[in-house]
Amino acid sequence: MTREELEKYIPLMIEKAKEAQKNSYAPFSHFHVGASVLTEDGTIFTGTNVEPPVMNLGICAERLAVYKGISEGYRKFVAVCVVGPTGKALPPCGACRQILFDFGVEWVIMPYDGGTLIKSMNELLPGAFSEDMIETWEGHGS
Ligand code: THU
Repeated sequence: MTREELEKYIPLMIEKAKEAQKNSYAPFSHFHVGASVLTEDGTIFTGTNVEPPVMNLGICAERLAVYKGISEGYRKFVAVCVVGPTGKALPPCGACRQILFDFGVEWVIMPYDGGTLIKSMNELLPGAFSEDMIETWEGHGS
């Protein structure tokens, strides 16, 4: 999807990410995050960060949103929108960047007070490890 085609989905993606943010479960950090992901057919899934009592079992909002889409049968996503509590643009963590890349996300939308920052996945994770590095490896399958 081109940057221009993405444009029409951006307001709804921001609205849905903000709506999801209200359900964030972050009793430790109190850093409430909401995310939305767009599929190629225009379906949008949302997620929040979840910080369970065993803290290292938590998950970021972006990854949960992608995994929700995967559990509904989707494998390719176009864009993700992330909203944090600071009023500043919230860039996805390194682990999320890899998962977003793995499932085809091309654009990352980061609203802030007064505007919206949009970055391509390639800007956020240049030179990424990709699935085809395994598939094209000559030892693959042996
Ligand atoms: N977090 C997200 O959900 N997304 C991000 O892009 C950055 C951080 C969460 C993880 C944790 O629950 C809290 O924010 C503080 O790091």
